[in-house]
Amino acid sequence: MGGRIETVRRLASWGVRRLASYCGIDLAPGSNDRIVLEDVIFPYFIQRDEFSVILFVGCHWYTRRYNKTFKDKTYWTLEINPAHSKYGARRHIVDSVENLRAHFDEGELDVIFCNGVFGWGLNDKDPVEKAFHECFECLRDGGILVLGWNDIPERCPFPLEDVQALRRFRRLVFPPLSTAEYLTVGPGRHKYGFYVKSEG
Ligand SMILES: C[S@@+](CC[C@H](N)C(=O)[O-])C[C@H]1O[C@@H](n2cnc3c(N)ncnc32)[C@H](O)[C@@H]1O
Repeated sequence: MGGRIETVRRLASWGVRRLASYCGIDLAPGSNDRIVLEDVIFPYFIQRDEFSVILFVGCHWYTRRYNKTFKDKTYWTLEINPAHSKYGARRHIVDSVENLRAHFDEGELDVIFCNGVFGWGLNDKDPVEKAFHECFECLRDGGILVLGWNDIPERCPFPLEDVQALRRFRRLVFPPLSTAEYLTVGPGRHKYGFYVKSEG
């Protein structure tokens, strides 16, 4: 019985989202991690002109609205699944984040958001090392990597402290949150980590 109710609830929720999307309205999930991302993290970068070339990795129906969020920036999206291209930016790339250097010059990007990708497809050690190595290469000096992940066994293949490529970055105490690693409220233990490329 409980299973049937859950199925009906999910179908109803899917139907409402499809209808809203058809009417040009994107309903975003209201979880705490999404609120922190959209209401605290994004505004910091939007308000600062020095962050002008932005890459958002991993696209889904609820990230399509970020095209508007970053309308005054040079906004790129990258996603491995071609079926998700419709959620991406006008400047969209279909590829794995491991291959970033094939698409961007060294130092071309000011900010990379890589949220919900580690542990959600980017799971194995070598691809993870390559992905964050390429992120480092493509960011300019002073550029920032915002990494979001779920610190739970099902979604955290190995500790991020083990990733050598991330050690090339300096941890950034992100001013609006006053910390370099922020744990949001919720069962998914969603965390945000802030990394700055600093070659000095
Ligand atoms: C949980 S969703 C996260 C979407 C979005 N980034 C967000 O903020 O919620 C994970 C997305 O990452 C994509 N993805 C998984 N591995 C990837 C990879 N190696 N490179 C690029 N995208 C990848 C998946 O196809 C999926 O659309």
